[in-house]
Amino acid sequence: MKEAWNRIRAFPMSTRILGIESSCDETAAAVVADGRDVLSNVVASQIDIHRKFGGVVPEIASREHLRQVVPVVREALSQAGLQFSGIDAVGVTQGPGLMGALLVGITYGKTLAAALGKPLIGVNHLAGHVHAVFLDAHKAGRRIQLPAVCLIVSGGHTVLYEVKEKTATPYDAGGELQYRKISQTRDDAAGEAYDKVAKLLGLGYPGGPMLDRLAAVAGNTAPPIRFGPTKTRGNPLDFSFSGLKTAVLYHVRETPDYASEIAEREASLQRGERSFEQLRPLCSQKTLSLIGEFQNAVVRDLVERTLTAAEEASAEIVFVTGGVAANSQLRATFEARAHTAGLDVLFPSRALSTDNAAMIAAAAYPSFRASVFADSSLDPDAGLALA
Ligand code: KG4
Ligand code: ZN
Repeated sequence: MKEAWNRIRAFPMSTRILGIESSCDETAAAVVADGRDVLSNVVASQIDIHRKFGGVVPEIASREHLRQVVPVVREALSQAGLQFSGIDAVGVTQGPGLMGALLVGITYGKTLAAALGKPLIGVNHLAGHVHAVFLDAHKAGRRIQLPAVCLIVSGGHTVLYEVKEKTATPYDAGGELQYRKISQTRDDAAGEAYDKVAKLLGLGYPGGPMLDRLAAVAGNTAPPIRFGPTKTRGNPLDFSFSGLKTAVLYHVRETPDYASEIAEREASLQRGERSFEQLRPLCSQKTLSLIGEFQNAVVRDLVERTLTAAEEASAEIVFVTGGVAANSQLRATFEARAHTAGLDVLFPSRALSTDNAAMIAAAAYPSFRASVFADSSLDPDAGLALA
């Protein structure tokens, strides 16, 4: 609490925006001052609830948001040392995301803004992911030179944007940004491919963190199958991960010796034994090498396309954000390749890479400064485009 008061004293004239995020399976609320200083950032994850279904169940997600939104917002205010009267605006995710899930956050945000007589701001979730990078850069005292190329890579999205200032002035928090979509996935998102491959190998949900750790212990043994670079017709910078996922599936189906270890791991998951230490001994070298090769293919596609996009956009800086940005091989490869290419690469911290509301409050700030407000007609938009 004392820390919160100190922060408030440090920003006496600041604009404090309450951000609310409910687009998928995280109910989140946060208070951000002047689009750059995170006063609180509270996330209630539903992973444990969706785990037994092997993915997010939309109806359950909506119900959980409904249960969590009030306590999560209260906690965010309390951690920021504020009362409701201390906030200047409410920023809420309008889309893209799950319709029913978005509706909960929007209905709550609208009602709260109306009851407090404060402005309401509809925020694009993807703009939020871009702003997560600025939040951490500000904390680290880094100035960002735009244009940047931003890869948003999560369970729901794999998309590349060019990010520029809207005006000629150099970027500061609150400056309006302009986005240009460069490419996107034609089918599955990269995180979705991780989750599906983990599921078919009996490695639980969500699959990304587990496959990341297993790939790291795969060593250099030749993989049982090789996956070449994915080519996409039309826009060569578009991504595609469903072919890779299907190739893993067919390989596993055609190779009978995987079946018994998959069954053993599934039994382990059933017993609630799902940690890396518990699953690792149940994986043969062949399985580890398969996972390593799958990850090599995903990382290669993400890195190659992003760096080509940066070159084409004459960007000197690359942002990588979203849940998959936590992947250790992706980070290491980006860092090494960007260094060779003379580029800067920025990853937000893990807390700001995955879905959160601080990024939503930060992305609401430029609209606040430009007085672009929503009213009670604000509706969720499951397919809301950023550009
Ligand atoms: O951003 P996020 O928390 O939620 C949304 O999808 O919006 O991302 C979750 C996704 C899941 O698919 C998860 O498997 C993946 O990010 N993920 C990872 C890692 N950590 C999370 N994928 C690869 N490596 C990781 N270390
Ligand atoms: Zn997201």
